[in-house]
Amino acid sequence: MTITQRLRCDQTPAWAALQHRFADTGRKLDLRDAFAADPQRFTEFSQSAPHVFADLSKNLIDAATQQLLFELARECRLQQHRDAMFAGEKINHTEQRAVMHWLLRSPPGAAAKHLATEAQQVHATLDAMLGYAERVRADSAITDVVNIGIGGSDLGPQMAVLALDAFATMGKRIHFVANVDGHELAAVLARVRPESTLFLIASKTFTTIETMTNARSAKQWFENQGGQNIARHFAALTTNVAAANEFGIDTTFGFWDWVGGRYSMWSAIGLPIAIAIGAAGFRDFLAGAHAMDEHFRAAALEQNLPVRLALLDIWYRNFHGFTSRSIAPYHSALRRVPAYLQQLEMESNGKRVDGAGQALPFGTSPVLWGEPGTNGQHAYFQMLHQGTDRVPLEFVAVKKARHELAGHHSQLLANVLAQAQALMVGKADDGGHRHFPGNRPSTFLLLDDLTPASLGALIALQEHRVFVSGALWGINSFDQWGVELGKVLARDIEPRLHSGDASGLDGSTAGLLQRLRSV
Ligand code: F6P
Repeated sequence: MTITQRLRCDQTPAWAALQHRFADTGRKLDLRDAFAADPQRFTEFSQSAPHVFADLSKNLIDAATQQLLFELARECRLQQHRDAMFAGEKINHTEQRAVMHWLLRSPPGAAAKHLATEAQQVHATLDAMLGYAERVRADSAITDVVNIGIGGSDLGPQMAVLALDAFATMGKRIHFVANVDGHELAAVLARVRPESTLFLIASKTFTTIETMTNARSAKQWFENQGGQNIARHFAALTTNVAAANEFGIDTTFGFWDWVGGRYSMWSAIGLPIAIAIGAAGFRDFLAGAHAMDEHFRAAALEQNLPVRLALLDIWYRNFHGFTSRSIAPYHSALRRVPAYLQQLEMESNGKRVDGAGQALPFGTSPVLWGEPGTNGQHAYFQMLHQGTDRVPLEFVAVKKARHELAGHHSQLLANVLAQAQALMVGKADDGGHRHFPGNRPSTFLLLDDLTPASLGALIALQEHRVFVSGALWGINSFDQWGVELGKVLARDIEPRLHSGDASGLDGSTAGLLQRLRSV
């Protein structure tokens, strides 16, 4: 089945039924009444999945609406689309590519026969990459690892290295340089020495201008500082091994065009993670994600956590009209998760046309944003509690702490519970300044412990949830044409900054160009 043959969500009977449901009762649902009426609500609206427990009960939903949403998924043939992804069909139809990041975490021997060649390449590369990671870990002369990459070649590894800091046993300092702004690279270079630094040039395409500029400057710096052995101090993580070789890097770890950039930290792009936590830790990370893949692949829609989360996303975006979702990880090590999820969701589903290229009459990706709890509480939570817009909030909490400091973890957990409670219950106070309207929705994701496996599962959960909403919206979640125009224009503008030529530019760009050139 091609993407164009699937029914788009707004063309289904279930969509019309959901519109009626929203107008009749959905928009008026009050969570306080819903809990009062149903003592089983917590159980009915919670879901266990590998490594993740989800309390969905504080969402603006009831059983009848949820049934219609499952119906919507069935009418859009979600299961068939999911199976097409897992069968390796080219569901990224605008680039004629399969979507198989899940194969990167599939254990040896588990892949379907027709994907045996790809699976064999995956495991050969993984073994080589993990062997290299272990050699780097054992090499006491290497104290610093600098990952140069942007977007999916930065956000995933950076997020995971921070998240798994408690598992980073060899004490290497891992730096991430993404921005073409030279301040970022210069600050890192000022702290490292060529003889003790390993540079990882991470780029799926090996053409991204920011990464190539940073890579060239890093190599130049290395040589200027008397560094000799590029083979020892530079490695490339890329699908474009030929370009890496041409750049002068012979140590390369490859991956394939069926791994999207924002889905790539399970591939060679994950090398910084493997250096941080070791080969066994990285395999646990893959295993956690694989467990979530299996849940997504096999669980009935009604017990399928990625599906349940995505259906809520659709209910909020397309019926309630909510335009954003806030993420609040109550664990400081998860502080880059919001940035990671921004790319995952907004680059995947920030699309305005369906599979056939027709403009969509409904909203797609919400704006994702957030900061770790409790920090966000003392910044923007005011707006979440009392602002004019309702913003669904997604809490992520971790039961176990991996530090010994007395009293901190119970305070942290008390805060996350209290925030979710306060958003829902509110507080009556004459409707004025101290009034909390309540009835503000939230989802609560709970991990027993933050480990490589649970992080892998949490992220795979988010990947599949994005897949489901994209599938129902009928969009291609796996291309990103929207990033191209700015890149092309930047290439045109850069020489003009040197020459001053403003011909053909709009008045604003020309004015700013002149201002930037004036002394
Ligand atoms: O410009 C967007 C993008 O293509 C992302 O999709 C990708 O993650 C990022 O750039 C980096 O791309 P690459 O890994 O090819 O350097």
